[in-house]
Amino acid sequence: MNRSHYNGTLRLSNQGEAVELIGWVSKKRNFGAMNFIDLRDRTGIVQLVFDESFNAQLKDVRQEYLLHVKGLVEERKDKNPQLPTGEIEIVVKEFEIVNSSKVTPIIIADETDALEDTRMKYRYLDLRRPVMQKNLIMRSKIVQSLREFLDHHDFTEIETPVLGRSTPEGARDFLVPSRVHPGTFYALPQSPQLYKQLLMISGFERYYQFARCFRDEDLRADRQTDFTQLDIETSFLDENQILSMMEDMLKKLMKDVKGIDIPTPFLRMTWNEAMDKYGSDKPDNRFGMELQDFTNLFEHSEFVPFKNTIENKGVIKGIVVEDFAPSNKEIKNLTSDARKYGANGLVVFKYKDGALSGSAVKSLSQEELDALVAASNVQDGGAILMISDAWLKACNALGSLRNDIASLKGLKNKDEFSFLWVVDFPMFEWSETENRWVSQHHPFTMPKREDIPLLDTNPGEVKTNAYDCVLNGYELGGGSLRIYEQDLQDKIFEVLGFTPEQTQEKFGFFIDAFQYGTPPHGGLAFGLDRIAMILAGTDSIRDVIAFPKNASARDPMSEAPNTVDDVQLDELELAICIDDKQRDMLTAIQAGNVPVQLSNGETIQVSLDEIRQWKESQN
Ligand code: AMO
Repeated sequence: MNRSHYNGTLRLSNQGEAVELIGWVSKKRNFGAMNFIDLRDRTGIVQLVFDESFNAQLKDVRQEYLLHVKGLVEERKDKNPQLPTGEIEIVVKEFEIVNSSKVTPIIIADETDALEDTRMKYRYLDLRRPVMQKNLIMRSKIVQSLREFLDHHDFTEIETPVLGRSTPEGARDFLVPSRVHPGTFYALPQSPQLYKQLLMISGFERYYQFARCFRDEDLRADRQTDFTQLDIETSFLDENQILSMMEDMLKKLMKDVKGIDIPTPFLRMTWNEAMDKYGSDKPDNRFGMELQDFTNLFEHSEFVPFKNTIENKGVIKGIVVEDFAPSNKEIKNLTSDARKYGANGLVVFKYKDGALSGSAVKSLSQEELDALVAASNVQDGGAILMISDAWLKACNALGSLRNDIASLKGLKNKDEFSFLWVVDFPMFEWSETENRWVSQHHPFTMPKREDIPLLDTNPGEVKTNAYDCVLNGYELGGGSLRIYEQDLQDKIFEVLGFTPEQTQEKFGFFIDAFQYGTPPHGGLAFGLDRIAMILAGTDSIRDVIAFPKNASARDPMSEAPNTVDDVQLDELELAICIDDKQRDMLTAIQAGNVPVQLSNGETIQVSLDEIRQWKESQN
């Protein structure tokens, strides 16, 4: 089938040309003797005009029929400035129906009111929508730009296994049973972390890979079970050299894909600064409302929550929100959000006509209130939201509220791209559940040289050469310099509470490799889906993935995951221990719903949130 042009590329300069086009019918209109069709391909839409002689043939043509058309480009009388091809139309000379179409279950247009699960069930049609085509084409351009940069900087692209052994990234593994070795399992890679470090030991020096990664974790708008990383590792570069090379790569990317010059070097802030000022390890600095510390204003306060915090060596922090006068109901909601984010409570003051109001006002002295107004610099019509708690808890909760309020007030400008690095992450965090130190990144992360003595005395204070790249409040990527000395690695495993036997059992092959002249090395991985999501200006990575999973980790189109034949199970020496009813019940519980049997025998699904609310209402 011949084609002379793509539909969306035709312009007034093509006037008078004979063209041959292929496309789907996006819209069909009839004006008396004339018929019009908008013909769509991946480049856009062009208007076709048919005279009366085609009436009979056109009777059969409906939306999403595929047509092959021959015609002449002519200037349009009533031009459509909204459309790139809006100055011309194609006067059709002959056409054929290449294929017919059923009525589509979703409308093929940028704007859609279809439910996401319906869009995903008919994903092949959803992907016909111009906005989705644009997203995926942009994603492909992103990959090209990144690959070009890395090729020019002597990186070698190397694939690593998908069926391998579990890597210590901290999420749950997807397991694949082995038929050949019954009772044993491969793990799908959460990332190629161990392999890329081994490639440095092999001497490749600069590696990259667009790596498919798999993590069995609860999904969010920026998380999928299977996603893609641009995975990078280098030898002999220090932290500054790695970060500045990555800045150059991202600068080129933004120029290639968005035509924007972003300033380098990126802002760098330590993890401590990020938490203290933004209440997040992925701060969004496109807007203000930074966290302020008011602890010293309330050192002698009689207000019980503040007094307790001071006694427990906590902090009293707050954010000032301009032009914000929340109602009592809104304050109640903000307080319940603060609790959800881990704080004990929230104190809200409104500032109007030179005075603070709010339920805590009566518990504070006039001097304290005056000092708060002066220190916070709150302006008339604004509000102060305060949390008194342990430093990290107060920061985390205020940071989350800051983000919510910025979204509510429309302060997140999608056309602004604010890149920054968060550096000097802590090496460990204390796990209450496991009652031991666990790695914040992974156990191969290099601690800061000057902090090594703290490994024996105060592991919680040890900082690392780990860094995260943040864009508009999203963690775009992260990595670190790695430990390459055996003694130091052994010490880290000791702090993590592993015996030498456990270390050998878990990471034996990896540790062994380190005995053969390991070069100093470091790297990072970027989330390709997240890069594409932000550059496409959407809030969900599902919009930039051709066939994603829905929020409950299912694919509504292929209905994965699904049961398998007994024969397949037999081959794998596996048996399923639950019946269909039990499986449905477990699925509901996993999805946060609990089956509850009513007194009339009927079973209903109740969400855990509903149960919590019911319990609260009973108290
Ligand atoms: P990390 O676990 O931080 O580091 O992952 C790197 C980046 O991958 C993206 N990402 C995800 N994207 C979508 N869905 C997910 N479930 C998901 N999980 C992570 C994020 C994140 O910043 N091996 C280390 C890197 C290194 O140390 O070199 C690693 O995987 O954008």
